[in-house]
Amino acid sequence: MKKIKSPINYTGNKYRLLEQIQPHFPEKVGTFVDLFCGGATVGFNVDAEKVILIDNNKYVIGLLEHLAGQQYEDIKLKLEEIIEKYHLSYSAKYSYKFYKDQIDEPGNNGLKKYNEVGYYTLRNDYNHLQSKFTPDAMNMLYILMVYGFNNDIRFNAKGDFNLPAGKTDLNQNNLNKLKEYIERAQKINYKFVCGDFKEERIQSVIKGADFVYADPPYLITDAVYNEAGGWTEKDETDLIELLTDLKNTGKKFVLSNIASKTDMQNLYLSEWIEKEKDIRMVELKYNYASSSYNKKNRYCEEKEVIVEVKND
Ligand SMILES: C[S@@+](CC[C@H](N)C(=O)[O-])C[C@H]1O[C@@H](n2cnc3c(N)ncnc32)[C@H](O)[C@@H]1O
Repeated sequence: MKKIKSPINYTGNKYRLLEQIQPHFPEKVGTFVDLFCGGATVGFNVDAEKVILIDNNKYVIGLLEHLAGQQYEDIKLKLEEIIEKYHLSYSAKYSYKFYKDQIDEPGNNGLKKYNEVGYYTLRNDYNHLQSKFTPDAMNMLYILMVYGFNNDIRFNAKGDFNLPAGKTDLNQNNLNKLKEYIERAQKINYKFVCGDFKEERIQSVIKGADFVYADPPYLITDAVYNEAGGWTEKDETDLIELLTDLKNTGKKFVLSNIASKTDMQNLYLSEWIEKEKDIRMVELKYNYASSSYNKKNRYCEEKEVIVEVKND
């Protein structure tokens, strides 16, 4: 299977770690659950009869599901209509330089200045929509993400998309990711499920799987989905309990996590490994210290790990 990137530039996505994680998955899987799927990078790169992708972010799940169900040429036209309506730049067609040359500004703000007015008009129109889950709304959200700060997806408590304009636009790279994602969706048997892993209906999906890959927010790092109590110590212990139950019923799983960073350790994780003799921790080679979301911790050493059930 060719490795593909998610059309959503997701903080903490596992693209660069796939080669290290995948050998810990079974070779033949019936139903594979990608729990805390984020941008779907793992689930859409796995060879399984069926993949169920679970996340509690309704916007992310809505967008991924919408994009996966499109025909590439159709959605491209829809996106172009939005770009035209809001007078946004379109590097994939006219080149980055074409727009950059029109901005009279030193510094490294990419296409931000060119797109600012149109972006905020689009954001305002989007935030006033009756429903954010129609196909047109999803296309607007995709454009907001691509032209927005850090290409993130973030909503405030009122349900308004609240990121400022960013430096990038719809470039060829984004179109390629979109195309490959749609093509992959047409080949695999997938299902997106939106919900919290603690809900009973979600737990029964998880327990019905043949194999579970879990990539929760990390207790000791920062990301958009950790903000404002997004992941608590209670969540951490509830997840550990769920995975222990899975193991005790003969199921296998792989959990991704950060075990420690310079001055902090995830004690729940180390105590769990200490207690359960049939699981083990494997250290991975790449750490997020070099990625942009962790700039403030750029120089700290993060120990990125997976936890898996030992083979008999
Ligand atoms: C580390 S990210 C997953 C990244 C993903 N593996 C990828 O490659 O893009 C963690 C995800 O957990 C989701 N999440 C946070 N709390 C959750 C909960 N209680 N139940 C389900 N999903 C949750 C977040 O929305 C976020 O997408």
